[in-house]
Amino acid sequence: MDDFTAAALPLQGITAHYLINSSFKVEPDHTVLLHAGAGGVGLLLIQLLKARGARVITTVSTDDKEQLARDAGADHVLRYDGFAARVRELTDGTGADVVYDGVGKDTFDGSLAALRIRGTLVLFGAASGPVPPFDPQRLNSGGSLYLTRPTIGHFLRDAHERRWRSDELFAAVADGSLKVRVGARYDLAEAARAHDDLEQRRTTGKVILVP
Ligand SMILES: NC(=O)c1ccc[n+]([C@@H]2O[C@H](COP(=O)([O-])OP(=O)(O)OC[C@H]3O[C@@H](n4cnc5c(N)ncnc54)[C@H](OP(=O)(O)O)[C@@H]3O)[C@@H](O)[C@H]2O)c1
Repeated sequence: MDDFTAAALPLQGITAHYLINSSFKVEPDHTVLLHAGAGGVGLLLIQLLKARGARVITTVSTDDKEQLARDAGADHVLRYDGFAARVRELTDGTGADVVYDGVGKDTFDGSLAALRIRGTLVLFGAASGPVPPFDPQRLNSGGSLYLTRPTIGHFLRDAHERRWRSDELFAAVADGSLKVRVGARYDLAEAARAHDDLEQRRTTGKVILVP
């Protein structure tokens, strides 16, 4: 494995791993909605979920990103406009078993609306900004929903957990079943441009700064 792949995998890979194994355990018969399918976590999530046998619906903002999400194995690739209604159509009115939402403010309401009764929203990021204060009563009216807001440090609690997640991820990359996309490399001196590209949604996969 080359150094760039090894550097690209841990943060986004371990995030994808704990999201589908520990925040909510995805089973082969589940329908999953995940946002930003061409992002770093998104592309890894799609592949890991398809390897498990789940049905994967994802959102992206452009045609190029749609192609990347499809190539990674997504079953349905949507734009953000009206995504909750589209998920309901695709599930015959039922809704998704789980939504993985790293976008936050702009998608939060739709993510709740896309869930089935007793579905789970895993809010793991805020790429579009933080979600405003929230009335828990909405979980009741939405269908006795579950909401969790995890962070990676709480899923690497000891050496055993670190090894479990790392071993599975590095083995999947080594045997070719998990592809890591390094979408862009920048010299460290260009870190500001890298941040600008992230903010402007111009990046895909992993962004790497090279010292
Ligand atoms: N909780 C944790 O443990 C944990 C761990 C790692 C990362 N994270 C968080 O998870 C999220 C995804 O991480 P990542 O590394 O996959 O990031 P990423 O590759 O940069 O993906 C973020 C994507 O979000 C989408 N997006 C939607 N609205 C946006 C907006 N207003 N501004 C910028 N992007 C927007 C963009 O895709 P489209 O253009 O297709 O919409 C963008 O490519 C981030 O919020 C990150 O901080 C959390």
